[in-house]
Amino acid sequence: MDVFEAIRKRKAVRTYTERPVPDEVVDRVLRAALQAPTGSGSQAWSLLVVRDAARRREVADLVIAGGAQYFAAMRPRRDATPEEHEAECVAYAEKILSTYRIAPVWVMGLLVPRNNYPESMEEGGYVDDLLSVAFAMENLFLAARAEGLGTVPTSAFQRFEKDRLKSIVGLPDDVDPVLVTPLGYPESFPEGLPPALKRTFRGWRSLVHDDAWGSTRD
Ligand SMILES: Cc1cc2nc3c(=O)[nH]c(=O)nc-3n(C[C@H](O)[C@H](O)[C@H](O)COP(=O)(O)O)c2cc1C
Repeated sequence: MDVFEAIRKRKAVRTYTERPVPDEVVDRVLRAALQAPTGSGSQAWSLLVVRDAARRREVADLVIAGGAQYFAAMRPRRDATPEEHEAECVAYAEKILSTYRIAPVWVMGLLVPRNNYPESMEEGGYVDDLLSVAFAMENLFLAARAEGLGTVPTSAFQRFEKDRLKSIVGLPDDVDPVLVTPLGYPESFPEGLPPALKRTFRGWRSLVHDDAWGSTRD
């Protein structure tokens, strides 16, 4: 699969099978991730691979619970009490994310401070380091897709209790999980956009400006 095909076919996968992923396949994907560009050459990142069944289960439970919180915050509450709304969102998260519990591998993209910026550059350096973790994770998503593996970028910053996530895998205080993803063979890869997004998603021509702001291609 060439890079354009992997980009086109990479989709957020939320349904996994328990089919094992061979170690050498995982390693190829990890190495591709860490070949991403890294601001100032800092390598302010690490990847944490969770294979241990008990830890995987804890991570999956936390992410599913975080999904329910996300839905509760983002979805309008119709004719329901707050408790009913919350219960509906818990049920919905269970319905669409429950196979996270059988995905054979989870990967966490971690921000690991290297303290190599002068004080005047600390703020910009932090942003560069964060962007670099995101680049590494995108490499990982694309390499995984080329291997026939599914992933979904799951934001650890706002979706769920980060401290609990950190304690599951023993992260020190100054190491932060940025994105986590299951890594596994999906039941199938989604095609196109989900209907809710299709209505509002902007086409590429409306997002490209030539020479100066305002001259989009549409
Ligand atoms: C920074 C970032 C955070 C995301 N966080 C979540 C998340 O917490 N849970 C989730 O299910 N999807 C998450 N996604 C996936 C997006 O919902 C998904 O990429 C988007 O809907 C477009 O769909 P596609 O990736 O299949 O093209 C995240 C994506 C990005 C880039």
